[in-house]
Parts: sequence; structure tokens; C-alpha cells
Amino acid sequence: MRVLSGIQPTARFHWGNYFGAIKQYIDLQQEDEAYYFIANLHALTTVRDRDELLQNTLDAALDLLALGLDANHAVLFVQSDVPEVTELTWLLMTGTPMGLLERCVAYKEKKDKGLPADAGLFTYPVLMAADILAYDADVVPVGQDQLQHIEVTRDLAKSFNFHFGETFVMPKGKILEASSKVPGTDGEKMSKSYDNTLEIFAEVKPQRKQIMRIQTDSRPLDEPKDPDTDHLYQLYSLFASEADREAMAATFRAGGFGYGDVKKALADEAEKYFGPAREKRQEMAAKPDELKQILGDGAAKARKKASEVLKRAQKACGVKS
Ligand code: ADP
Ligand code: TRP
Repeated sequence: MRVLSGIQPTARFHWGNYFGAIKQYIDLQQEDEAYYFIANLHALTTVRDRDELLQNTLDAALDLLALGLDANHAVLFVQSDVPEVTELTWLLMTGTPMGLLERCVAYKEKKDKGLPADAGLFTYPVLMAADILAYDADVVPVGQDQLQHIEVTRDLAKSFNFHFGETFVMPKGKILEASSKVPGTDGEKMSKSYDNTLEIFAEVKPQRKQIMRIQTDSRPLDEPKDPDTDHLYQLYSLFASEADREAMAATFRAGGFGYGDVKKALADEAEKYFGPAREKRQEMAAKPDELKQILGDGAAKARKKASEVLKRAQKACGVKS
């Protein structure tokens, strides 16, 4: 069984990305053959600054490795290092109905708001389909918001197979647990689009300040509170041991506590949790050649597989004999 997923390097990763995606990618690498890539070609549809995109791509790789992605277990690579995927995109594009892409939300939302959308955004799901089909992926762990793109991938694979004969492996989406559940500093879903994120590797002091400013309600101190609907408690739960979590829940239910103490406890737990990864990241950042080597090896492995699949598709549709 081959697992594959991609993550866009559009900004530095936040706690939502970690608990909603990265942590689960790392867990999955133990069981299956895993391919993970940094989707810089997709990010190019939003990041239009050369240096920023290059830097974000390297930062994303460092973050993933520091957090426990193991290049000996998983194939880690940068999307654009596998040009076979963009070639495959064209083959798929020729059989993609316009209506299918018009229904895709990323494009539709922009269009409905009257914002200019480009062909890159419009055809984004076809590139994503090629990402998946190029590696004969069986399982694609994604957040809920990406499920539509997996359906598009399956549609395109099905219609290509129908037309040209069995060529592509039919992939399945696997919804990542809690893939939209981590709340941000304002209690809404944590997202870079809402400017409410807590970054995994933010500097400790400024982040403590950010945590101390997390919005809370203004009910009296004494009043009992329901931990299950409290975003501060939800954030704390991400890091705390079960015993600490239960103790904190009891404190909420009893009332008579200050949110300041909960915030301090949250900051302590988060620092402790990400501390080892932070150290590892610093060590790795000091050895850029090693990172290059890892990404180079990953790209070579990924290309080997993708070129095999591309050739299969080219032969099937008659652009190669
Ligand atoms: P953002 O919303 O910040 O733009 P992305 O859409 O790039 O984040 O998400 C990348 C991955 O992280 C996806 O798999 C997504 O489901 C997951 N993710 C993002 N935000 C959250 C969140 N608040 N809670 C859980 N998972 C999240
Ligand atoms: N579009 C995905 C996202 O924004 C990233 C991505 C690109 C991806 N190619 C993929 C995810 C292939 C899974 C498989 O999160």
C-alpha cells in the first residue's frame, strides 16, 4: 500500500497544520510506503515572490524533518523536482471536462467574489490529480477541504482508464482526523487566511505573548465553564497528558480560576512538546548540504516511479509507441 500526500509551502506551518496533517503523515510513515512532497507548484498560484517561495520550500522541508518525518521511511521531495508530473498533467487535462473544474470550490469561491482567477488556479485540481496518479498512490490522507480534489482525481483516472485501457491505480482519500479542528487565537479554525495562527517554530518569547493574548470570554471568574466548548482548553488538550487534561477540565467545571494561568500552562506545554524538534531543526538548518542531499535522493526515487507511470500513460494514449 502506498500513501501519498502533499503540503503547500505558502507560509510557515502552524499548530493546525501539525495536529491536522503533519503528525498524521509522520505516524503513517511507519506502516506503509509513504511519499510526501512539498507542493511548490501549487503554492505558486498564491505566493508570487521568488525568494519567499524558495525560502518557504526549504523551511517546509526542514520543519517536516525536524518534526519526525524520516527520510529513511518516507520519500520526501519537492513537487517541481519531478517534471514528469507536469507532463502527466497535460495528458490528463485533455480529458478534463470544463464543468468538473468549474465546480471546484477554490476557483468557484474566487469567481463568485468577483476576484480575478488564473488558469493555474482553475486547473489546480488536474495538477493535484497528476501528483497522485504519477506515483500509483493507493491512499491519500488529506483534510476535509481537499476531498473534492480526490474525487476529481478518481474521475479523471476512471475516464482515462475507460478510454485508453487500465493505466492508473484508483486512489482513495483518507480524511485526516481533526483536520479542521484546531482553533486559532480568536477561537475560529486556525488558518493562515484568518491571521490567527500559532506557528510551530515561532520564537519562544513572542509566541508566549501571543498566547497570553488569546481571546477568552468575559464571564466572571467564579462561574463554572464547559471545557468542551472552550478553545483555550482545546489548545491545551493538544499537548497535555491525559491526567493533566482531566485535571484542567475539572478546574474549568469548578470555576474560580483565571485564564492567565491556563495560558501560561498552555505555553509551557507547547514549549515542552516542540522543544526537541526545535533543537533538531536548528542542528539541521546548520547543515544545508544534508538537506539538499535528502531532497535530491527523494526526488530521484520519486522520479523513478513517476517516469514509469508517465511512460505507461504515454503509451496508452498514443504519444509514445
Ligand atoms: P491554512 O488553513 O492555514 O491555509 P492549509 O489549508 O494549507 O492551512 O492546510 C494544510 C493542512 O493542514 C491540511 O491538511 C489541513 O487540513 C490542515 N489544517 C489546516 N488548518 C487546520 C486546523 N485549524 N485544524 C486542523 N487541521 C488543519
Ligand atoms: N492541494 C493540497 C492542499 O492545499 C496540497 C496537494 C497538492 C496535495 N498535491 C497533492 C495533497 C496531492 C494530496 C495529494 O492541501
